[in-house]
Amino acid sequence: MREDRAINQQLDSITETDKQKLSPVNQSILKIWGPSRLQGKINISGAKNSALPAMAATLLSSGVCRLRQIPCLADINTMGKVLSALGAKIKQNGNTLDIDARDLDNPEAPYELVRQLRASFFAIGPILARLGVARVPLPGGCAIGARPVDLHVRGLQALGAEVHIEHGMVNAYISGSKKRLQGAKIYLDYPSVGATETLMMASTLAEGETIIENAAQEPEVEDLANLCIAMGANIFGAGTKTIVISGVPKLHSVDYTIIPDRIEAGTFLIAGAITNSEITIAPVVPKHLSAVISKLQSVGLKIIQDKSDSLRILPSEILKSTDIDTQPYPGFPTDLQAPFMALLSVCSGSSSVTETVFENRMRHVSELNRMGANIRVKGNHAIVEGVPKLSAAPVIGTDLRASAALILAALAAEGETTFQGLQHLDRGYEQLEIKLQKLGAKLERVDLVKENDIFPASI
Ligand code: UD1
Repeated sequence: MREDRAINQQLDSITETDKQKLSPVNQSILKIWGPSRLQGKINISGAKNSALPAMAATLLSSGVCRLRQIPCLADINTMGKVLSALGAKIKQNGNTLDIDARDLDNPEAPYELVRQLRASFFAIGPILARLGVARVPLPGGCAIGARPVDLHVRGLQALGAEVHIEHGMVNAYISGSKKRLQGAKIYLDYPSVGATETLMMASTLAEGETIIENAAQEPEVEDLANLCIAMGANIFGAGTKTIVISGVPKLHSVDYTIIPDRIEAGTFLIAGAITNSEITIAPVVPKHLSAVISKLQSVGLKIIQDKSDSLRILPSEILKSTDIDTQPYPGFPTDLQAPFMALLSVCSGSSSVTETVFENRMRHVSELNRMGANIRVKGNHAIVEGVPKLSAAPVIGTDLRASAALILAALAAEGETTFQGLQHLDRGYEQLEIKLQKLGAKLERVDLVKENDIFPASI
């Protein structure tokens, strides 16, 4: 009975208001015809979660910075607009960005942009370190949780900044004539990726030594450190729990290539698994995918490392249940929880999924259940009873990774799925449908203006 209530609560979690927000008539949808068998090789883009803080880090530099392998995504455009509003000049040439922040002069990031992209808040560290003052709006919560910024704020205060939050704006400044942050010992209560990045960037230009303990160990943190090191920063230990930064007065220009996107790579491995297909992904850093590879192996799949930067997944007729528990890196990534749950929904037996990083990241469950999955949710814990097959349905993605999960489910489901939520997908997956089409999936983007009878007003 209590379980039934939990299911009903979950089913109610996508409200009519959500649906109206998600379905303006001028939006595109995806039509996906399944089940698909995929085949071939896919090129993995640069990591979104490296690219965004890397763009913020260029604000630290007194030279022109070239960033390569920047994926063409809506989030990257928004971050570009934030940097421009602050006074940086940006040129884009395909996946290469040239950012010139020599004349950085405006310490205030516009609310309209920060509201759209939480990661743009991370720019507060570089702006403050460079200008001695920063005004960045609180980004607010999002579909997956409240997402406070208290760890960023406390860390900046430990570095000597005065920080006041008024009218939704974080006002930070460095008092005194030197206008430099002061090195400090900072212990993070939780290994937040964003807080580690904000504080690491801010302390590159601080006076003295900063030690960040209980730091996030994500590969994107290490990548950001490598970028800052290439700009002249002294950073040791990034990628471990303790990062030591010895401040320098200035950072210079750089030409830097960011790492491949491990979340996109994981999504394609799961696409291979759920469609019972053989696909190869490259470039990847296999070490960054250890937790995901290990769980795919528990399900019964074989992953082969053909070269140092390429992985191949082999089909398996029998998929077995397994349990996942999201954790900070090197644990199982929260960003692949929803896509992996889509796979578990067709694995025989009972799997358990526990989300420990974000408090509201189960909203894909009700939509997966509409496609025939059998998943019960209680709080942040889901029990997935494997079903032999999924069936197509009209579905709505509520955030980026939930959307990816539904697309994967649709590839395996029988019939035509109509997917709404491309505004989420376009934030974080570069050309997902084109890449899937190249692998043989049958899907197409349809303009709702032309076909606005697909979703009647009641959806
Ligand atoms: C980054 C990633 C996101 C990923 C997440 C966790 C980027 C642009 N985004 O987000 O894709 O899902 O890491 O791997 O890199 N928290 C606080 N106070 C803070 C900061 C965070 O309580 O000041 C909490 C959050 O609410 C959340 C948890 O810490 O529950 C983890 O968040 P965090 O690691 O900061 O995620 P992001 O950096 O925002």
